[in-house]
Amino acid sequence: MNSVYTTTITREARKRGIHIEVIDRRTPIFVLRHKGKSIRCYNALTDRVGAVTFQMTQNKRLANGFLKSCGFPVPAQQLFTDSATAGRFLKRYRRIVVKPCSQWGGRGVSVAVKTVAELAHAVRFARQFEEEIILEQYVEGVDYRLIFVDFKFVAAIRRRAARVEGNGRDSIRKLVQAKNRRERRVDPSHVIPLDAETDRNLKVLGLSQDTVPPAGQGVCVRLTTNYHTGGDVDVVTHSVSRKLVALARRAVKVLGVPVMGIDFLVDEATGRPWLIELSPDLAISPPEGEEVARHFMDFLFPETKR
Ligand SMILES: Nc1ncnc2c1ncn2[C@@H]1O[C@H](COP(=O)(O)OP(=O)(O)O)[C@@H](O)[C@H]1O
Ligand SMILES: [Mg+2]
Repeated sequence: MNSVYTTTITREARKRGIHIEVIDRRTPIFVLRHKGKSIRCYNALTDRVGAVTFQMTQNKRLANGFLKSCGFPVPAQQLFTDSATAGRFLKRYRRIVVKPCSQWGGRGVSVAVKTVAELAHAVRFARQFEEEIILEQYVEGVDYRLIFVDFKFVAAIRRRAARVEGNGRDSIRKLVQAKNRRERRVDPSHVIPLDAETDRNLKVLGLSQDTVPPAGQGVCVRLTTNYHTGGDVDVVTHSVSRKLVALARRAVKVLGVPVMGIDFLVDEATGRPWLIELSPDLAISPPEGEEVARHFMDFLFPETKR
């Protein structure tokens, strides 16, 4: 109940005189009550979303299939069954992403897998988190999350993969450790993992943990853009492409989830969007969180709107 994903919401509720009843301290389940009305929440996920709809949107395989059938631009995807079939998928798309079906925060995700050996390793990595694994066509682009509350567009963030800046003296390992020490004081979940996937990503970029980048040079060290793998977030609500907003709005309507994050990778040169993930249990957190939490409370308790 003390994580930022919960407190961003409960702080806004308190400001409006909405009572918070904690159901479980370790899991962020609570009830918001105001003048005889009550809504059960799991952070930003509420009983306003149907259980079946939640399953369908939260599971990356089901979401991709449904979105594809509705004509949305999604990367090609295949459920991992055996290495021979997976090898054929890799051969067809040349670079692929391997991920567990229903995790979050970049857990177990391997990006730009190019060889059969990397594929076997990526499947083992994903399996640490879940039995069901998907293979996905790798698509290039800038990562945007568009956030909707009450089916209305309220915020957009751009997410960038974890980076460090060279000083001409320290290795990437040292630069990452120093950045992690600083970040840990602010948010322990915002650190760059120094694991096998980071090593593989560095190798893709022709680097290693021992490389000493020149002073002033920014180096991308992880291919996933998740905040939980050390990525950085900028709020771009007012500058994001209106075409992208319209596409996301259509997805929110079709899916029937009033509060949701829609994640895209957008090709910078062509503007071509790929819809890669739906977040019906969207994390309301800084930097855009306060604004989103206000809309969230307006949606749940319109009578408290200021
Ligand atoms: N098909 C893809 N092509 C390129 N990069 C991808 C693809 N799918 C995911 N990624 C990268 O991996 C990250 C994590 O994958 P995602 O499907 O969003 O899982 P999670 O639920 O863990 O966030 C994305 O934010 C993106 O940076
Ligand atoms: Mg994601």
